Amino acid sequence: MSKRITLTGITTTGTPHLGNYVGAIKPAIEASQNESQSDGQYFYFLADYHALIKTQDADRVHQSTREIAATWLALGLDTDKAVFYRQSDIPQIPELTWLLTCVAAKGLMNRAHAYKDAVQKNLDAGEDPDYAVNMGLFSYPILMAADILVFNATHVPVGRDQIQHIEMARDIAQRFNHLYGKHFNIPEAVIGEEGSVLKGLDGRKMSKSYDNTIPLFLTEKQLQKYINKIKTNLLEPGEPKNTEDSALFEIWCAFANAEQKVWMADQFAQGIAWGQAKKELFALVNAELEEPRARYMELLQTPELIEQKLQEGAEKARALAEPLLKDLRHAVGIRPLG
Ligand code: TRP
Repeated sequence: MSKRITLTGITTTGTPHLGNYVGAIKPAIEASQNESQSDGQYFYFLADYHALIKTQDADRVHQSTREIAATWLALGLDTDKAVFYRQSDIPQIPELTWLLTCVAAKGLMNRAHAYKDAVQKNLDAGEDPDYAVNMGLFSYPILMAADILVFNATHVPVGRDQIQHIEMARDIAQRFNHLYGKHFNIPEAVIGEEGSVLKGLDGRKMSKSYDNTIPLFLTEKQLQKYINKIKTNLLEPGEPKNTEDSALFEIWCAFANAEQKVWMADQFAQGIAWGQAKKELFALVNAELEEPRARYMELLQTPELIEQKLQEGAEKARALAEPLLKDLRHAVGIRPLG
């Protein structure tokens, strides 16, 4: 068995929220910290080329890159153990994207969900099927395959919406290996547990597209305000409340230890007032985020420190990617003459 190489990318279009924290960022950072005993390797990167597919708002891409990088560093990512970098600092990624583009079947890309959804929306609206579809969106899975294959990742933690992209990366890797000899591991998707999806303010999955998120780093006052907005029901203080289907209880559980979970379930049974439950939730969440929040605010004031960390990561990443690209160029016939 080859060494376990875990890689994941975060598209730089938004501001991290509690759902990202619970479902992705926290487990990723913990995994990288635990990895000291074994010989696994971790790659976490800011997918800023992917961001350009989704938005042409340059300030948003820039601001999001800064916020996401600051978030990971403030939460204690160990950049000595995990390689932490920005996609656009690694020229081997777009270079590999082209090599893969030339073996990827167009028919495969036609089947990508993101592209098909865009086409369907156009058809429903009576538009031309490809209205406002750019080539970035169409060939997005190839860029993502390059992200993964450039470090020969073996394991890719993703949400369910990304499983198809990992299958396409596998397909493309196999095709390249078949044509040019075995260069790539065939990567596997790692899907988070059910419990890793957090509910949002309205009780649906916390997601930017539902506009129901609680941003990760808010002032205390703002955090309290957001928590107060979590949807509850009309049960009065003293009336027993159901923990099932309660967004408040779920968010509590994402931050609570075993004892605190039992305690809150008991409070629900005893009919805790919603206002009181929200106060308790605020205190719990705030206690966990207080320290990283202070570091985050500091980092945002000193973006040159963030940049320096990213440059250190990029150097490590390029040093690992270049030998592979050297082999690949040779394999496809791009070789020095003489
Ligand atoms: N497409 C992923 C998302 O939207 C982000 C991403 C880009 C990614 N490149 C990746 C994830 C490589 C895993 C591996 O969530």
